[in-house]
Amino acid sequence: MAVLDRIFAPDSLFSRRFFFLARRFVAGETIDSAIAAVRELNAAGMTATLDFLGEDVLEREAAVKTRDTYFRMIDAIARADVRCNVSVKLTAMGMLVDEDFAFENLTAILDYAQQHNPDPFVRIDMEGSAVTEATLRIFERAYQTRKNVGPVLQAYLRRTPQDVERAIALGARVRICKGAYNEPPEIAYKDMAQIRKQYLDCAKALLTRGNYPGIATHDRRLIGAIKTFTRDNGIAAEKFEFQMLYGIRPSVQKQLVAEGYRLRIYVPFGTHWAGYFYRRVAERKENALFALSGMFSR
Ligand code: FDA
Repeated sequence: MAVLDRIFAPDSLFSRRFFFLARRFVAGETIDSAIAAVRELNAAGMTATLDFLGEDVLEREAAVKTRDTYFRMIDAIARADVRCNVSVKLTAMGMLVDEDFAFENLTAILDYAQQHNPDPFVRIDMEGSAVTEATLRIFERAYQTRKNVGPVLQAYLRRTPQDVERAIALGARVRICKGAYNEPPEIAYKDMAQIRKQYLDCAKALLTRGNYPGIATHDRRLIGAIKTFTRDNGIAAEKFEFQMLYGIRPSVQKQLVAEGYRLRIYVPFGTHWAGYFYRRVAERKENALFALSGMFSR
């Protein structure tokens, strides 16, 4: 990702020229543009979670700046009176520099959100498998004293059923997703049928025994299976929420809301869109074609 980050660095010629491609998945570069997107989502009956783009920070100063941006985001959410919380990546909080330092930055955000955001919950996004263990360690340490935090678990990881059980035992709020990083087969399932099966098993455990899970997927089959499961087991729509990414499958998003389900949209913004954009393109070959044709048609 380091090479990509150089190519897509915010001030690079490439980035300035091609931000229009990422714009479909990214709600602009500023807090104001992100809040405007959240307002529209709220008006359409959806809640949101804001993510300030950036990851793999290797300098303390950059992590502190990101932490301070989260304070400003929380202030802006409160000022705009929108229904929205925040999602953070621990490598953006300096986890690769020093775990204690990232812990301090995370807990500062948790405390700030608790004091200032009507929805004080803070989600810790899950990154590549090199940092799964450290991410869960920092989450659990923070959770001992602050309950407004919850992790993301990735259904493609072989270890995830144990992590789901651990989160259930703690009473923590989990977002379950398939997983977006390129992992080796010893660590992660590669076969989509197997990933779907593990996703559904984990989601069912979280829905029956967990605490307000976030069911993050755009996969029609999984969404259908979750609807059937919750209906058949008398799990009320207020006991969980579907979650989707900004700009992906807007018609399915509207349909879920019309059917009375809760839906939260993950809204990323900022100038460091390279890693996020790369993962969205890599997920779908149509996106790669769209990106390529966009580059050559301007
Ligand atoms: P799948 O990829 O099968 O997509 C189903 C359908 O949705 C596709 O057929 C297509 O129509 C549409 N679709 C999906 N992705 C698309 C794309 N990029 N462009 C256009 N259409 C697309 N991952 C992670 O590792 N850590 C994390 O913290 C998070 N957080 C997170 C939050 C939320 C709210 C969501 C929805 C997802 C994440 N993810 C994530 C990403 C997740 O792991 C996964 O990579 C994507 O959600 C794609 O998987 P689906 O389950 O949507 O199915």
